[in-house]
Amino acid sequence: MKGIILAGGSGTRLYPITRAISKQITPIYDKPMIYYPLSTLMLAGIREVLIISTERDLSSFKELLGGGEHLGMMLSYAVQDAPNGLAEAFIIADREKFLSSGESCGMVLGDNLFYGHGLTGRLKNASSIEKGALIFGYYVQNPQSYGVVEFDEKGKAISLEEKPETPKSHFAIPGLYFYDGTVIDKAKSLKPSKRGELEITDLNRLYLEEDTLIVEDMGRGMAWLDTGTHDDLLDAANFVRTIQHRQGIMIASIEEIAFRNKWICKEQLAENIKDLKKTRYGQYLMDLIK
Ligand code: DAU
Repeated sequence: MKGIILAGGSGTRLYPITRAISKQITPIYDKPMIYYPLSTLMLAGIREVLIISTERDLSSFKELLGGGEHLGMMLSYAVQDAPNGLAEAFIIADREKFLSSGESCGMVLGDNLFYGHGLTGRLKNASSIEKGALIFGYYVQNPQSYGVVEFDEKGKAISLEEKPETPKSHFAIPGLYFYDGTVIDKAKSLKPSKRGELEITDLNRLYLEEDTLIVEDMGRGMAWLDTGTHDDLLDAANFVRTIQHRQGIMIASIEEIAFRNKWICKEQLAENIKDLKKTRYGQYLMDLIK
């Protein structure tokens, strides 16, 4: 399966930071934000990734991650001219010849962070779907800020709504989506919503209507954070710092995941960190290959 990170948008809620740098380059504690969604796709076993963003921000991503060879990955980049909606990502992926009709694809939003026990297994399972779509539900206090899924008594999804004023449940849909090879055709059939966007919720509803949508409850043991505001940024940073300090292991170290996935060898990892030896991040990675 191929993957997309959608890391564009205006980032206005993070002004004035995002006047100077891309939102997804802002640090979440000790790493640029994009490491977190990238690590999610890597844990799903996805090696070929298209990063979609604004023209301005793509240059920072390219400088940071390049073609991805140092991670044993293939990274490519595409511009989204305006924030026309999350579902436009698949039209862009088609236009850029990254994804063809018939190929399945996972997508993660550039400002979403996932962490928790059993995550890798869930992601591997999700990335192996052949037919339909797989998304997640996550119990939150403020569902009206998100896409919301309603379940019946048997736990089957029965309705999806984007930012409803009166949500039918507390289950928000996180920014992590897995689709079969019909996703491009479905995305092309969408019409812009009232707010002028090609809505991911409308795309998911097409799968729901076809009865091929699976919505998995992420469970209460999982952390899902999105980092749209200054407070969210600080909360996410504190979360990462707390867990890392307590356990002495890193969240979303892309070099570590590449190494553990056996996408890169010891020598490549050593090469990647040769300039980082004086940092805690570099020392942590050094310890992996000692
Ligand atoms: O975070 C999960 C939520 O993401 C879902 O529950 C919602 O169903 C989904 O619509 C989306 O809601 P948001 O209000 O968070 O979407 P937002 O417009 O903030 O965009 C999310 C990220 O995607 C943000 O980093 C900007 C980027 N983006 C957004 C749009 C609309 C793009 O790169 N391109 C776009 O066209």
